[in-house]
Amino acid sequence: MSAPLRLGIAGLGTVGVGLIKIIRQHGEMLTARTGRKIEISAVSARSRDKDRGVPLDGYAWEDDPVVLATRDDVDVFVELMGGSDGPAKAATEAALAAGKDVVTANKAMLAVNGQALAEQAEAAGRVIRFEAAVAGGIPVIKSLTEGLAGNEITRVMGVMNGTCNYILTRMESAGLPYEAVFDEADKLGYLEADPNLDVGGIDAGHKLAILASIAFGTQVDFDAVELEGIGSITIEDIRQAADMGYKIKLLGVAQMTGRGLEQRMSPCLVPDSSPLGQLDGGTNMVVLEGDSVGQIVLRGAGAGEGPTASAVMGDILDLARGFRMPVFGQPAASLRKARAARAAVPAPYYLRLQLQDKPGALAKVARVLGEAGVSIDRMRQYGHQDTAAPVLIVTHKTTRAALEEALEGFRSTGVVEGEPVAIRIEAV
Ligand code: NAP
Ligand code: HSE
Repeated sequence: MSAPLRLGIAGLGTVGVGLIKIIRQHGEMLTARTGRKIEISAVSARSRDKDRGVPLDGYAWEDDPVVLATRDDVDVFVELMGGSDGPAKAATEAALAAGKDVVTANKAMLAVNGQALAEQAEAAGRVIRFEAAVAGGIPVIKSLTEGLAGNEITRVMGVMNGTCNYILTRMESAGLPYEAVFDEADKLGYLEADPNLDVGGIDAGHKLAILASIAFGTQVDFDAVELEGIGSITIEDIRQAADMGYKIKLLGVAQMTGRGLEQRMSPCLVPDSSPLGQLDGGTNMVVLEGDSVGQIVLRGAGAGEGPTASAVMGDILDLARGFRMPVFGQPAASLRKARAARAAVPAPYYLRLQLQDKPGALAKVARVLGEAGVSIDRMRQYGHQDTAAPVLIVTHKTTRAALEEALEGFRSTGVVEGEPVAIRIEAV
């Protein structure tokens, strides 16, 4: 039998503990599958005294993850602390410099520093694996880099933040406003320490940026992701969208267009009969489209102890088997800097306006849309009150710029009250 593969694990929170449980419970099975014993040499976290629900005796303790990462008895540094920079990045860089391979679940670090880390790893002949960083337990990185490697990827999309999907589906099923469900999610422990990472779309944007890099052979560029969170989604829009046969999802879409790489993470309407429309609760879904394979839909747990540790374990087993590949699926030096598409491809939009109930109001709105070049597909007035008339409009495909021009034009009509709502309808 080959020599054991020795791990140094930094971070003993949800994922770190999950990983230790798998190694302790399935040691024999893991060895049978790889021909190597998987051993934990040392661990690190902030608090040495915390009871973590798993025995840590037998593993050396390091207060400093950088020291852990460079220990002689560590072959693979497993980074499970989190954070785009700080100790996670410092320890990862130290591990690579010391000749260790790295496994991480840290999407923030890869989205922000992925290219530099990949270049460092490949210059040193090391690998960084990060299946858990995108959509937790769903093997989407493997799918893109291995199973679909023979395809030109045409589009990647998905619901990649379980907390946002929980909030949106719970708002609909319980008829509760955003604020109430946000508080519920907080009590259930679903939210990140900085909730804006979830509801601001940043966490999901990190994941999309990583997928886009692999899918399109480009340098990961989180700054180019057009981000919009779910904080302004109302129960009213969820209801009206449902009434028209749509669900509202925080949807990530990445595609290469003639105008450059489009990456957006924003609330979108999707048909409720589509796989994405049917995705309820905290589950994730990633849709991959390739020129030969067509569309692949992957669905599963995007977070949590077991699913995330499962993905980390898969990466470790690949290393135990001697399976290695460039960090983003092709050599880092060959990843090109993508030109960012400044505008999304045209799409239909859902518009909800509050109109003053007086003669000619609708005509004024229709004129503004027409002058901006936005064509109306469907329109209806509903829930008519004495003085205000809510109106729903579904446009034909239009550019965001034309839509913005129309939204601006509504201001001068004198008949539109408050801020109109505009949400993109995505063809999925
Ligand atoms: P967590 O529960 O907050 O645990 C973080 C761990 O890192 C804790 O054990 C903490 O120590 C340790 N830590 C933080 N700063 C440290 C430092 N300076 N030195 C040493 N240890 C330090 O986080 P998690 O949920 O397990 O997430 C870990 C990583 O996986 C993150 O990158 C996260 O984005 C990613 N991820 C998580 C999930 C999920 O479902 N949780 C899913 C996908 C990806 P103490 O315990 O002593 O405070
Ligand atoms: N906050 C993330 C989510 C955790 O809700 O999906 C997994 O990355």
